[in-house]
Amino acid sequence: MYSVLATNTRETDHRNASAHTQRVCRSILSLDDFENQARRHLPRPIYAYISGAVEDNASLTGNRQAFAELAFRPRVLTNVSQRSTEIELFGRRYNAPIGIAPMGISALSAYRGDIVQAQAAQDAGVLAIMSGSSLIRLEDVMAVAPHTWFQAYLPGDPVEIDALLDRVEAAGVRTLVITVDTPVAANRENNLRAGFSAPLRPSIGLAWEGITHPRWLVGTFLRTLLRHGMPHFENSYAKRGAPILSPNVLRDFSDRSHLAWSHIAAIRRRWTGTLVIKGVLTAEDAIIAQRHGADGLIVSNHGGRQLDGAVAPLRALPAIVRAVPQLPVMLDSGIRRGTDVLKALALGARCVFVGRPFNYAAAVASTTGVAHAIELLRTEVSRDLAMLGLRSIAEVSPACIQSATDWQLAPLGAGVVPLPNSSTETKP
Ligand SMILES: Cc1cc2nc3c(=O)[nH]c(=O)nc-3n(C[C@H](O)[C@H](O)[C@H](O)COP(=O)(O)O)c2cc1C
Repeated sequence: MYSVLATNTRETDHRNASAHTQRVCRSILSLDDFENQARRHLPRPIYAYISGAVEDNASLTGNRQAFAELAFRPRVLTNVSQRSTEIELFGRRYNAPIGIAPMGISALSAYRGDIVQAQAAQDAGVLAIMSGSSLIRLEDVMAVAPHTWFQAYLPGDPVEIDALLDRVEAAGVRTLVITVDTPVAANRENNLRAGFSAPLRPSIGLAWEGITHPRWLVGTFLRTLLRHGMPHFENSYAKRGAPILSPNVLRDFSDRSHLAWSHIAAIRRRWTGTLVIKGVLTAEDAIIAQRHGADGLIVSNHGGRQLDGAVAPLRALPAIVRAVPQLPVMLDSGIRRGTDVLKALALGARCVFVGRPFNYAAAVASTTGVAHAIELLRTEVSRDLAMLGLRSIAEVSPACIQSATDWQLAPLGAGVVPLPNSSTETKP
């Protein structure tokens, strides 16, 4: 039996990291390295759920491509020995302009996954958003990481929306994120092909996947069952929802296709905390969100998991920032490197969120893994700031970037400053 079943006082504590966890982290040098480890560690349906996108992966690949189409304009000899990656957002200071995006069902891929992510983010002084499609009670996450933001998928019925808001407020949440890019369920063919559904349907295939991934089976699934019982969707509504493993594959998600801006207006009247709208991709919707009282926006195409072919958030960002200059605009989808973070900031994002890599990090190395992932990205941001000749995030501006295909050709000789005495040099 793996030692991971043993009890300790702070069960996701990275200060008590196992030798295995530390070994895993030593071999991980970039966020993408976590994916290889997670692919081996997780049952195929669960890995497919996290890694996958929708239909033909047009948005998924488009998200990365957008970053590749920008190049940096580094400045040199600016004395960058003293640098800071700190930012301020909604009146709080954070150690880096990065955060963990909300991800549903995180406690299925990592033991106590939502707590692991939120705790590591809080310890590192960065942001984390807890998903409303989660398997751990919001109250349990807020108890260990009280600055965590909460993301809600709106229940269809106004009475249920109000009840959820009351619960979220009572849990101590100060920043509520409403995700608005899911009017209907996405066409995730890859999930079906890999045998993933929510709830999971018990089957021989699923059992085999568990048996052939023993570290996950014992360290995550059985450990959860033994200590906490069968996980349920805990935060979609004010009350507990369906179990994660059930022969009835219908998730108790009410239809959201009728939701409209009037629902946001009603929430704004009731919610006294900070209100952030996630999933906006056009300047038109950004303006409407502002009119309905949003305090901030997350420009996102859900990591390419909703509408295939939806514009890459990075490309949508400049027009949105121009349209709502007073609103903090954030971004996610496709961020993997410090250079990606700085490109988004150069186009006007105040901070960015990262999804999948943090999920993999929690799965393969718990809080230690998430802490390692945060530190890798923060260190990259700091190093890249220096390479750009900058000392602080406030100095990042559109002047740092240009189109990667822009040659900036000038007539030969134009703008060349002659060296002193160059005209008197004797030619060999
Ligand atoms: C496994 C998984 C689950 C997700 N669940 C949610 C969710 O419950 N709510 C939400 O607003 N977004 C959800 N998202 C989208 C993320 O919040 C985020 O927009 C996306 O992952 C960013 O792209 P990236 O993974 O390329 O960094 C999920 C993404 C993944 C990968």
